[in-house]
Amino acid sequence: MTRLATARALAGCLFLSSCGTGADQPEAAAPADAAPASPEQALFLQKCGICHSQGGTGTMMLARRLGDEKSLLAEREDLTPEYIAAVVRHGLNSMPPITRVELTDAQLSDVSLYLTGKPLMLDAAAQTGAGAEGEEP
Ligand code: HEC
Repeated sequence: MTRLATARALAGCLFLSSCGTGADQPEAAAPADAAPASPEQALFLQKCGICHSQGGTGTMMLARRLGDEKSLLAEREDLTPEYIAAVVRHGLNSMPPITRVELTDAQLSDVSLYLTGKPLMLDAAAQTGAGAEGEEP
């Protein structure tokens, strides 16, 4: 009984991946492999980080097309929520489109908030077709 309860608690921990370490480390300018500073950053790392961290394909392709200083999305100052939404929903060159199943509009807005300081207005998403569901090529 006790062992079972412990095992369950442990499993819960692993599933939520939020017990013990992480979340409450105060260093803001932490190195890339430190715990994320915000839920929005965590989401970005989870959904986009595989390609848009240092050394990722996205970072490398952007370095080639736009130069090193524009290669890391997290360091860009010139991105807008609308542009991000359009790229995410439609794809761009070798970046595949990301559907609302993989990333909801609310999550897209959070990622946008992390990258630009502004949330995505869903009206704008509708206008760019970024919110359109199920009818993408
Ligand atoms: C499978 C890899 C991959 C994933 C996952 C990915 N991207 Fe990309 N992304 C790319 C590549 C590659 C490019 C460069 C396309 C090009 O310019 O040729 C790119 C380009 C971009 C650009 C264009 C930047 C510019 O200045 O034109 C934005 C914005 C962007 N990605 C946002 C995101 C966001 C936000 C996410 C997560 C929701 C994400 N990407 C996930 C591969 C990826």
